[in-house]
Amino acid sequence: MYSPFQLAVKYLKYYTRASNSKGHGVHSPFVFDFIKLIKNDRENYPAYKAIEPLRAKLLADENFILVEDFGAGSTVLKTNKRQVSRMAASSLKPKKFAQLLFRMVKYYQPASILELGTSFGITTAYLATANPAAKVHTLEGAIDVARRANENFIALGLTNIRIWSGRFLTTLPQVLSVQDKFDFVFVDGNHRKIPTLEYFQLLLQHSHDQTIIVFDDIHWSEEMEEAWAAIIAHEAVTLSIDLFFIGIVFLRKEFKVKQQFSIRF
Ligand SMILES: C[S@@+](CC[C@H](N)C(=O)[O-])C[C@H]1O[C@@H](n2cnc3c(N)ncnc32)[C@H](O)[C@@H]1O
Repeated sequence: MYSPFQLAVKYLKYYTRASNSKGHGVHSPFVFDFIKLIKNDRENYPAYKAIEPLRAKLLADENFILVEDFGAGSTVLKTNKRQVSRMAASSLKPKKFAQLLFRMVKYYQPASILELGTSFGITTAYLATANPAAKVHTLEGAIDVARRANENFIALGLTNIRIWSGRFLTTLPQVLSVQDKFDFVFVDGNHRKIPTLEYFQLLLQHSHDQTIIVFDDIHWSEEMEEAWAAIIAHEAVTLSIDLFFIGIVFLRKEFKVKQQFSIRF
């Protein structure tokens, strides 16, 4: 994992090189629409008002829960007691990005959605609300965390989410045997190079032309930058958008020449 200073330098580089936030000079109509109609959509959707109080509640929750640590940096499975508020502060995707994913789902209307890494389910709730007709599968290894996420889904009245509790190694093949193809995938757990590339390879076998895959924290560490570089170089990826804290890949064959964008967000 990069230090805060290294990350700041990286961010500055990205920011100076990326296309401006309005998309001036972006020649792809597809990406221009993404910028104008999704990224820069400023509407205050009712879902934002429904979901954000739950985030606030988690951020203020001083209770402790048991957490198995599966992610980057942990080669050995450790179980720790951790404070909900601290976990929420460090692991939930900030509202800016969760709401961007909400707008992506609202716009592209994927019918099958997969999330690797539920945490307390805040982003899951955004994905599920954006298209109530979609089936959302979300995977979380830490049992108490998954339980808490499920409570949040119930509180929001969301019935289109299935949460799979267990390590990705086990639950990912299980979910892929139930749902063969996914339209939209958010990979937000186990931020290491080899697992990320393994998930990507597996997900490609369960994707189609219109599938969208979003990777979290693509510049978080050298390993994740290597994983992201390998992903966007893959022949199946025809268009990629780097927003620094997340990376989005499209597999559409209509894009004859591979295009890689970096856009300010
Ligand atoms: C960054 S958090 C997910 C945040 C969530 N997507 C959001 O936007 O609010 C990553 C989650 O993935 C889980 N996780 C990481 N590696 C895992 C693995 N190998 N198997 C199962 N769960 C894992 C962690 O327990 C953690 O709760």
